Amino acid sequence: VNRKISIILTIAMLLTGCCGCAKAAVSGQSSAGASAQEDSNAGYITVGFCQVGSESDWRIACSNSYKEEFTEVNGYRLLFADGEGKQENQIKSMREFILQDVDYILLDPIVETGWDAVLKEAKSAGIPVIICDREVKTEEDGLYECWIGSDFEKEGRNAGKWLADYLQSKGRDQEKINIVTIQGTMGSSAQLGRTKGFGDVLKEHANWTMLGQESGDFTQAKGQEVMEDFLRKYHDIDVVISENDNMTFGAVNAIQAAGKTCGRNGDIVIISFDAVKTALQSMIDGNINADFECNPLLAPLVEKDIEKLQAGESLEKVQYIDETYFDDTMDLKSLITERKY
Ligand code: AHR
Repeated sequence: VNRKISIILTIAMLLTGCCGCAKAAVSGQSSAGASAQEDSNAGYITVGFCQVGSESDWRIACSNSYKEEFTEVNGYRLLFADGEGKQENQIKSMREFILQDVDYILLDPIVETGWDAVLKEAKSAGIPVIICDREVKTEEDGLYECWIGSDFEKEGRNAGKWLADYLQSKGRDQEKINIVTIQGTMGSSAQLGRTKGFGDVLKEHANWTMLGQESGDFTQAKGQEVMEDFLRKYHDIDVVISENDNMTFGAVNAIQAAGKTCGRNGDIVIISFDAVKTALQSMIDGNINADFECNPLLAPLVEKDIEKLQAGESLEKVQYIDETYFDDTMDLKSLITERKY
């Protein structure tokens, strides 16, 4: 009864806003169609997934992972909402999922803050929320079931440690090293964690200088623009830290267009994050020195959590996925044929 009252309250709140046709927007149906869909959902667990967008190869692999896992054969109906890189779209989709009274909401939040109100609405409606990939920072505890994703800060720290070892192996550990960072979407966990983790190692090396940090929003096009800008401003860049592979592809294009070389035996050391297949191929081709894995195949783990909730079991609040790294000293050819993303 409480859940029904909450749903009615949520609907009333939405009607006083501007989202009168929200339900139709996600399902692509009229409200009559939506209630028909409700009936056809009988026997399935309905899951509304608020995805960030489609900014990168990693993101596409992540979306595919959910589409392959949450199928009718596995007992699920997946409602997939593409946030197109905007938090307001994701909040709107969450409210639509609340109206549709889905069984679970999965949220991959674009940025960490600004979720309290909509998470409270989901909680009042009795809909459990699982946060995946990026994290949320809330003022109140208990607004979601668990978070499952990567340790972004550790990825950044590992990148810094790798650079220190690499420079030492080249006899450059006392040399002045100039670094630039192409950051991801500002305020996202992937950007905040990687910037902080690498920054902590940088502080331990007095001979390393961060010349500049700019956001390329995790896209190839913006990564290229940022790198072009860095190359115009700074003529002595030794290292590029690029916070995802697609921005790295853009950066490599910009470096080559400027007549410089990068990667193995190049002028500029390139360190990237994600380790998607195309980036590993680029490493084999000699353009990237090291790549710190970020695993996009989260859906099977999220599904296991839902099974536990269905069985009335409790969940670990924080769940990290296993990750590794690759560099150009490794034999990557056999690895990329088996790699799923
Ligand atoms: O949140 C994960 C990050 O988002 C990945 O590194 C990046 O490629 C994606 O867009």
